[in-house]
Amino acid sequence: MSPFTITRTLPADATAAALRADVAEGLTRTPKQLPPKWFYDARGSELFERITELPEYYPTRAEREILVARAAEIAAATRARTLVELGSGSSEKTRHLLRALPDLHAYVPVDVSESALTLAGRALLAEHPELTVHALVADFLEGLALPQGTPGPRLVAFLGGTIGNLLPVERAGFLTSVGALMAPGDALLLGTDLVKDEATLVAAYDDAQGVTAEFNKNVLAVLDRELGADFDPADFDHVALWDAEHEWIEMRLRARAAVTAKIPALDLAVHLAAGEEIRTEVSAKFRRERVRAELTAAGLQPRRWWTDDEGRFALSLAVRV
Ligand code: AVJ
Repeated sequence: MSPFTITRTLPADATAAALRADVAEGLTRTPKQLPPKWFYDARGSELFERITELPEYYPTRAEREILVARAAEIAAATRARTLVELGSGSSEKTRHLLRALPDLHAYVPVDVSESALTLAGRALLAEHPELTVHALVADFLEGLALPQGTPGPRLVAFLGGTIGNLLPVERAGFLTSVGALMAPGDALLLGTDLVKDEATLVAAYDDAQGVTAEFNKNVLAVLDRELGADFDPADFDHVALWDAEHEWIEMRLRARAAVTAKIPALDLAVHLAAGEEIRTEVSAKFRRERVRAELTAAGLQPRRWWTDDEGRFALSLAVRV
């Protein structure tokens, strides 16, 4: 069997249908909202890569610090033979784990982007010719089946703090379905950004160079290209704010003046009053107690908790018992 296989569990037109449904629903409700997953076309992914290198955006560096420091402990605690990575993207963070897991046979990267999976999968195989890579083109938020025949124990990694993009009720459903995929003895490695002072948090989502503002506005360019819409990103201001009650960052796009945009693919015209906002992202920040409670509620037993030296970001290891 080839050491690299790619399985598409997402019908080729499912992404287009999901975008239409999300836009039709999100821009006709009050307040308006768009799910953050539509940021990540080629340009959005490139802008996100630039965000991870900004001085204000600490989560990527903090998580990498933990992975480098703790990879050997993670390996010893899990003895994983299969690594499943949800939202693998460029698989950059995975390299630290792959190097540390001596018993690893299979790597299962899961992402909505087939091109990212192919690129990353081939690059990893060049470095680790002993591995079998089963890439899955899937939206892991919509339910997931793992490839047959990958040996246990499995380590499921969900890194980067992306779980913070889900609302609490969505997180509960997501963690429960991940738990259901796991066999007893399998482990989940979860990256969560942590609650900290408001100035640090807001700066991470409103950087001085304006890269995050460009990333935020890119979702309008996606709607223009994919749905024939006529949004002008220059008509909107980037907004990042800390919601202290929910303990999450919100990104919004605020209309600088009244805007009417046509979305021909949906046969829809969307009106925004001057100052009206579209919520484009929630990025929840966590405390240890909340992570523990949410893992436990999903039937997972928290075993380890590691943070970077400054206590900005955490990796949790939980097992299915
Ligand atoms: C990729 C979801 C972890 O929420 O921090 C970065 C995305 N948004 N800057 C995050 C993001 C604005 C990022 N995640």
